[in-house]
Amino acid sequence: MGSLQKKLEEYYNKEYLPMHMPGHKRNVELLGEKLPYKIDITEIEGFDDLHNPEGIIKNIEEKAKKIYKSEKSFILVNGSTCGILSGIRACVNTGDKVLVARNCHKSVYNALEINGLNPIYIVPEIERDGIDRNISISDVKKKLEENKDIKLIIITSPTYEGIISDIKQIVDIAHKYNVPVLVDEAHGAHLNFIDELKSKEALNVGADIVVQSLHKTLPALTGTALLHIQGNLVKEENVKRQLAIFETSSPSYILMASIEECLDIIKNKGKELFNIYNKNLKNFYKKTDKLEKLSILGNEIKNDEYLKKYYDFGKIVIKTDKTNITGKELSDILRKDYKIELEMASSSYVIAMTSICDSYNNFERLLNALLEIDEKLELKKDIRDNSCKIQLPKKKVSILKALENKNYKLEEYKNVEGKISREYIWIYPPGVPLITPGEEINKDVIEKIQEFEKSKISVRTTFGKFPKIEVIDI
Ligand SMILES: Cc1ncc(COP(=O)(O)O)c(C=O)c1O
Repeated sequence: MGSLQKKLEEYYNKEYLPMHMPGHKRNVELLGEKLPYKIDITEIEGFDDLHNPEGIIKNIEEKAKKIYKSEKSFILVNGSTCGILSGIRACVNTGDKVLVARNCHKSVYNALEINGLNPIYIVPEIERDGIDRNISISDVKKKLEENKDIKLIIITSPTYEGIISDIKQIVDIAHKYNVPVLVDEAHGAHLNFIDELKSKEALNVGADIVVQSLHKTLPALTGTALLHIQGNLVKEENVKRQLAIFETSSPSYILMASIEECLDIIKNKGKELFNIYNKNLKNFYKKTDKLEKLSILGNEIKNDEYLKKYYDFGKIVIKTDKTNITGKELSDILRKDYKIELEMASSSYVIAMTSICDSYNNFERLLNALLEIDEKLELKKDIRDNSCKIQLPKKKVSILKALENKNYKLEEYKNVEGKISREYIWIYPPGVPLITPGEEINKDVIEKIQEFEKSKISVRTTFGKFPKIEVIDI
């Protein structure tokens, strides 16, 4: 048990009268004990202050710093989202130019929006399976060479599908230009504990700011995350100031206790748990090699020299592109017939997320379901090539300017080719926009939306009126 949790329980047993927040007053006689009211407190005497930690919370941040070998680690209770917003704002001034991987999560786009930033995008390669690959080093080099006023590079690695970019090379180039690199490692808090991936983890290869969701791939409650910094390109006081803006002033002690417990588990039992996990994963991949119609990305990349080394096998990406069903249909079958709920379903693949908390039996259950489903599927005659990169929509005005433009019309998405969007359009997960406000909607975007609609994947838009979207005149 982490020391914060212990202290919270001891405090409850002391029977102090809580004449302060939260309003549940730890009244378990009235509210019952199904939710952890007993240990849900606010920042009272002796329990430190997340925004100015000097005691028990500082101790948790020190644990994170030691485990991840950062120069400074902040614990977060508003997810990676608040780390990304704070980390970006700590490095830029309004209107600055930034280099951004186009497949970033919407929290990055929100940071672009509220800081009025001028993004230069790098579009990752996309294979015929429709899955984004890594960020090309030569693209980064070229963009930095062409735009000497870039103030920050923002990359997502690993991606939702487990693709890791070569952050070391990106950092080495960026630092030649004195440009800091922020890595959204929301899906990579566990990389540091996997022997083959440790040397690819962003903090270990010199990234300046690294944001990790603990809750995504490690045993921690939803909403918990870490922000690490190192080097002299990012100022600690700037990050601190931004966290005070973007993170709640009423942090949950339950979440903070969960962060500590997660760090303690990794420190005390991590080696053993990751060994078992790796064995289970290897076994799963070996057995799924037998699949005839479905295929698993982790099995297909065996001959890919780059991905063999830069791929997180913990993400089980199951592809349906050779079969007569869509990813969404596979996900529905797994839910309805096998009571297996997946992380994400796209038109031609699904993602099953795994962690050290998955038992051998969990892997076997998924495996057996896939083998059974595979037998019933048919092979498609013509396999669709999904590799067509969506042509990067042309930017007409900034995200902020487009959103502030009140001169808009609501139109059916099929009729808006050539018009300027006032909205983000995305599917969630993964929350990567197909188009941002201020960009011209092209044919590729409309076709992609049609593909999602056909696969019954719900398309989200900023103002929630899909299939109509707001377009502007400029
Ligand atoms: C790549 C990526 N970055 C950031 C986030 C936001 O993380 P959080 O949910 O911890 O705020 C997500 C969430 O899905 C994500 O997929």
